[in-house]
Amino acid sequence: MKKKIALVSGAAGAMRAACARRLHRDGFQLALMDRNAETLECVAQEIGGGTSHWTLDQTDETAVRKAVAEVEERVGPIHALVNTIGWTEGTRFVDETSDYWRKVVEINYMAALYITHAVLPGMIERQAGKIVYITSDAAKVGTGGEAVYAGAKAAEAAFAKSIARENARYNINVNCTAPGPTDSPLMREVKEQNPEMILRMTKLVPFRRLAQPEEQADVVSFLVSEDARWITGQVISTSGGLTMN
Ligand SMILES: NC(=O)c1ccc[n+]([C@@H]2O[C@H](COP(=O)([O-])OP(=O)(O)OC[C@H]3O[C@@H](n4cnc5c(N)ncnc54)[C@H](O)[C@@H]3O)[C@@H](O)[C@H]2O)c1
Repeated sequence: MKKKIALVSGAAGAMRAACARRLHRDGFQLALMDRNAETLECVAQEIGGGTSHWTLDQTDETAVRKAVAEVEERVGPIHALVNTIGWTEGTRFVDETSDYWRKVVEINYMAALYITHAVLPGMIERQAGKIVYITSDAAKVGTGGEAVYAGAKAAEAAFAKSIARENARYNINVNCTAPGPTDSPLMREVKEQNPEMILRMTKLVPFRRLAQPEEQADVVSFLVSEDARWITGQVISTSGGLTMN
């Protein structure tokens, strides 16, 4: 039987690499995208199994459309989109510039729109698809030091709910995970800039530790599976109980 195809955007990140490995184990044929060519290449090689990859800046709409078209042409129809890119620095809003805000919104929100707009028409035509966005629990409860990031992730979650409503009639499920503090290079960067912030964050997690990237990937794996066919428009906290509503 032909394998289903999953596109994982931002696959060089810790969480995304874990998602890619997990989806490969689940039997997906993978297409990976990230702007970090070197790490992306390593992840694709490590996974093997004909995993293909595209190096691009996902805030470049034209590049995203071109790459998605190439995936569909060379690899095949995309059944699952896992949009995982994200970026922030641990800074206080009053100290930031509007250039920084624009960058945060481009990466954490606009990039999700670009890739979804490119992938969705094919899913609608085939009347099948799964979309998962990795947002953040910061979108639900806010995080000091990540104000604009939290706002952009909240926008991504609200967008996901809306396209879930628009596309359920085409048998397309759209959901989000909302990770809490997870061990990753992004987290290590924030820790360097603002160690107190990480300490504060882990204190709020009932398990009192950071999540491992694989624990995030397990939930993504479920959401793109047929077991989750009756779940859409949900933002599932994967944060060890950081938020509970
Ligand atoms: N790590 C955490 O504690 C945490 C908590 C909550 C939410 N999240 C979210 O989870 C997701 C995964 O985070 P992570 O910790 O694995 O991050 P990470 O820092 O390990 O990876 C970031 C990846 O995104 C890629 N990227 C950034 N901007 C890009 C762009 N414009 N175009 C293409 N690729 C780009 C980078 O090259 C890198 O590979 C992100 O959306 C993040 O916001 C992370």
